[in-house]
Amino acid sequence: MPSYNSLIQLRKSFCSEWVYINKEGKAVIDASDLHDIMQFYRQAIKKGTVLNLGAGTTHFHYMLAIEDKLTHITALDLGKEHIQILQDFFNYYQNPPKQARFISKKDLNIFQITAQSVAQDSRYGQDRSREEIIKNIICKSTNNHGKLDCIYGDMYQLDVLGDRKFDNIILSFSLFISRDKNDMLKLFTGIRKHLSSEGRIIIADFEGVGDSGFGEKEAEDFPELPKVRNIYSADFDLDQNILADYLRKAGFKEVKVKTVPVEVEGIEKEHNLNYLFAQAKV
Ligand SMILES: C[S@@+](CC[C@H](N)C(=O)[O-])C[C@H]1O[C@@H](n2cnc3c(N)ncnc32)[C@H](O)[C@@H]1O
Repeated sequence: MPSYNSLIQLRKSFCSEWVYINKEGKAVIDASDLHDIMQFYRQAIKKGTVLNLGAGTTHFHYMLAIEDKLTHITALDLGKEHIQILQDFFNYYQNPPKQARFISKKDLNIFQITAQSVAQDSRYGQDRSREEIIKNIICKSTNNHGKLDCIYGDMYQLDVLGDRKFDNIILSFSLFISRDKNDMLKLFTGIRKHLSSEGRIIIADFEGVGDSGFGEKEAEDFPELPKVRNIYSADFDLDQNILADYLRKAGFKEVKVKTVPVEVEGIEKEHNLNYLFAQAKV
C-alpha cells in the first residue's frame, strides 16, 4: 500500500470541493488556482514531447489540459509511492483495464469530472471528448515496452535519462523543495542538456516560501514523503528575480517570469504565497 501521503497530495489539489458536477449537471473545476496553473501550462507548452519532473500524483490531471499538444508524455519522481498511484491510474485506463488497487472510486470519479470539465472548456477542450483525452494520455504515456513511461529517480541526477531529449520539461511545485541556489543552478544546467534544440523549461511553483515563516511545522503539513522531506530546505527563498537570474546563469534565453497570488484557502494563502510561473528557451 503506498504511503498515505501520496493520496493526500492528490486529494489536496483535486478534491470534491473544487471538482464536481454542479446543479445543472455540468462538470466544473471551481478553483481559479487550478485554472491559472492549467492555462499557464497550455500557453507555455510547445508541440512535442514532455518530461514532468517531480510529477507527483497529479501528473495525469494536469496533462488533461495539454494532451493535444503532446506527442509523448514522460514522468519522473523520487517518490516510489507516488509512482504507484500513477501506475494505478494507468492500469485502470489501459486496454484491457486492470482493477485500481490504491486509488478509490472517488479519486477516479474526480479524475473523470476533471477530464469532462477540461473537454467542455473552450480554453482546453479543442473539440475533444473526455474519453478521447484520457485514451490519448494513456497511449502517449506508454513506452516501447508497453509500460507506463515513468522514471523513478532524483531530478538532481538526470544521468538516469541517458541521452533522451525532450521538447518541454516541466517542473511543477518541486523546485521549492530545492536544497539551495547552487543546487538549483545544477538542476537547471542538467535540465538544459535534456532539452531539444528548440526546447523549453516550464516552471510552476511558490514564491516566498523562505520569508513566509514556513518552518518545520508547516513542512509537516506538506504531504511529502519522508525521503523527500529530508532534503527540503525551509530557508530556501525562491523569488521571481532569483529564478530568472538562475535560469539565465544556466544558459536559458527568453526568460519570462510572472507571479499570481494564491486564492484558494489553505496554508499557502495564510502565508501570503504567490504562484511563480516561469518559462524559458534553450
Ligand atoms: C509538492 S509535490 C508536486 C507534485 C506535482 N508536480 C504537482 O504539481 O501537483 C512535489 C513532488 O516533487 C517530488 N520531488 C521532490 N524532490 C524531488 C527530486 N529531487 N527528484 C524527483 N522528484 C522530487 C516529490 O516526490 C513530489 O511528488
